[in-house]
Amino acid sequence: MAVRKLAPEELQPKSFVFSAETEAFAEQQIAKYPSDRQASAVIALLWKAQEQAGGWLPRKAIEAVAARLDMPDIRVMEVATFYTMFNLEPVGKHFIQFCGTTPCVLRGAGDIKKVLEKRIGEQNHVTADGKFSWLEVECLGACSNAPMVQINDDYYEDLTPENFEKLLDDLAAGRPVKTGSQIGRNRSEPFEAVNTLLDPALYDGSVVGAWRKRFEEQAKPAETGEAHAATASVPGEVKAAKPTAGRAIESDAADTPAKRAKEGEAPIKPVDQKEAADPSRATKVEAKTEGAATPAPQSGKSYVTTPGEGATPASPTTPEAGTPPSQAETRRDGSESKPGVVVDKDNKTS
Ligand code: FES
Repeated sequence: MAVRKLAPEELQPKSFVFSAETEAFAEQQIAKYPSDRQASAVIALLWKAQEQAGGWLPRKAIEAVAARLDMPDIRVMEVATFYTMFNLEPVGKHFIQFCGTTPCVLRGAGDIKKVLEKRIGEQNHVTADGKFSWLEVECLGACSNAPMVQINDDYYEDLTPENFEKLLDDLAAGRPVKTGSQIGRNRSEPFEAVNTLLDPALYDGSVVGAWRKRFEEQAKPAETGEAHAATASVPGEVKAAKPTAGRAIESDAADTPAKRAKEGEAPIKPVDQKEAADPSRATKVEAKTEGAATPAPQSGKSYVTTPGEGATPASPTTPEAGTPPSQAETRRDGSESKPGVVVDKDNKTS
């Protein structure tokens, strides 16, 4: 992707003021959103400002949009430089976006590109008369009529070097041109013989009627026995997909205001809460030398692990540092489950 940066200072106009038309458009767009969400209209306003500026966005136009929407300049700058629909440098009166993606290339876009280079020059270059510039872009969504270009707001499809040259001649001379397919095709219909959707039944309603009948039959499963078949395999008791061993079990916290209210108990008085929070009245717990205390839960739920996993082992799982492996009482590193190595009298291992 090309670097997207503002045009050089020498190309930037000194000022930009919304025209009456742009201002009316801005009011209409802003009115679509809540009063404190006017920034949502930023793309629409940038688009209109680009149109007013002649097909590109000068710095002053971006700043004018930011002021109109009460946004920081940089926020609008970010939008303008991100979307390739916004041109940051001057373009020709007829700005040609040439599709160079695979379907168009397979249908001859390479020859169209040669015409562009011959007639206009390199892309991002405006002709001396200011009439043309072009840019290669990704798929424009008219692949079935490839190859194609977009010129300003219109598509021109089914191009050949010949009809494209003529199109450029007509645009340069200010003559009217035909948008869409340049070979007389109606939208994206087949341009040769029609080979699909030929069955008259598709158009007399009989095919649709057959489908409807099938749906009606499916809507009566009880008569056909399908309902019984559909539910017969559903077990009455749904079981967990996996055993719960090792999973955290969630339960209500032991004593919460909600639990006390549910069980009809009086809420704890503020004075009692204050006393309970006084650290000087807390029961001292001597530090234990073995094992670690489970930290108290911090949320309204308490979590415990099921037996068998996560429990603190009664003895250390690794031998004391410096103990040779052969003298360690127990090994809990997984090797205890591996078969031992036996060396026979011929010094072979098994
Ligand atoms: S590939 Fe050219 S329009 Fe889709």
